[in-house]
Amino acid sequence: LDNGVARTPPMGWMSWQRFRCITNCDLYPDDCISDKLFRKMADLMSSEGYLDAGYEYLIIDDCWLARERDAQGRLQPDPDRFPHGIKDLSDYIRSKGLKFGIYEDYGNYTCAGYPGILGHLKTDAQTFAEWGVDYIKIDGCYSKFEDMEDGYKEFGQYLNETGRPIVYSCSWPAYFESSGIHANYSLLADICNLWRNWGDIQDSYSSLTKIMQWFGNNQDRIGPYAGPGHWNDPDMLLIGNYGLSYEQSKMQMAIWAILAAPLLMSVDFRTVHPAYKEILLHKEAIAINQDVLGIQGKKILTITNIDIWTRPITPIINDSPTYAIAFHSNRDDGYPYAISVSLEELGLRNAKGYSVSDVFEPQGEEIVQIQDKFIVKVKPSGVVFIKAVPIGS
Ligand code: DGJ
Repeated sequence: LDNGVARTPPMGWMSWQRFRCITNCDLYPDDCISDKLFRKMADLMSSEGYLDAGYEYLIIDDCWLARERDAQGRLQPDPDRFPHGIKDLSDYIRSKGLKFGIYEDYGNYTCAGYPGILGHLKTDAQTFAEWGVDYIKIDGCYSKFEDMEDGYKEFGQYLNETGRPIVYSCSWPAYFESSGIHANYSLLADICNLWRNWGDIQDSYSSLTKIMQWFGNNQDRIGPYAGPGHWNDPDMLLIGNYGLSYEQSKMQMAIWAILAAPLLMSVDFRTVHPAYKEILLHKEAIAINQDVLGIQGKKILTITNIDIWTRPITPIINDSPTYAIAFHSNRDDGYPYAISVSLEELGLRNAKGYSVSDVFEPQGEEIVQIQDKFIVKVKPSGVVFIKAVPIGS
């Protein structure tokens, strides 16, 4: 969608994966979906370096709504959990230098059963603009497949008419593709800034790798539609939660960088372990993710159960792009397994060779000719993430 926003993959924080639909504030006083939680997350997101690293959108997912619209037919938040209303919370979040995002659903209900936008598209677009919404995720529960393409398009037009630049995230492909129906990606790239392609990420390595596998299997069909203003979305980062090990966390960060994926953390900033925070804030991994070419990388080779993913990025030297390369081991046989590979086998072509460096474990640069075989040792379920910059004349 050409609306001036999301020129690089959006970066932010989204409540769903970690905080789900916790609405019982007696049982979970510090974690329930509430004004209090989001103000706290906003404080830490801006004071703890996340905003400076590029994470700017704070996005409220499902379960913020009251069960009924107000007397004028407008959406309203749950009055107990959001006693100051959404505009006040949005002002607070924006006063921290962040941008504000929220969730709704193109259907009669959200997935958790709160009022959806169907039948109120125009009013709701206006409400969101009045609330200072900068990012909207529109989910697809309780709606008919045959209505979705036109319906999402219509809602996008109303957003556009508000005059407020709003990042528009569309979920209908996730519903289509999970039912085996191919979504229309050229339409998506036209009317949405990003779209969820497939099933929800859960807090586990197996969920993460299933999504990666789907992205690998469908890369030639969906990859070409990624670019400035329009992105495929493999779902939130799990990093810093319960399900991924340290090595698996670096792996997700690397693969999301290769995929030009939106970087949407879903972590508790109050408790995230420093080592995991470092991964989330990793400058070079973020720079690769945010590369201005906006090309989605691909899985290009598998050697002894180690997948190799590459992505062309800047700088381009002598007509050759730089490459980010991630080696992800699907192995579980206990030690850093060695493979031998040449850059040429990975599709790199610069005749003068490349200057190669390690993203997560920098030890200087090494000059590598394209036919040279080099050894990479990849830890079980981990990643080796390298960058290869072409050598100029
Ligand atoms: C399904 C979506 O895919 C999730 O990301 C989340 O938004 C839930 N719905 C909320 O109900």
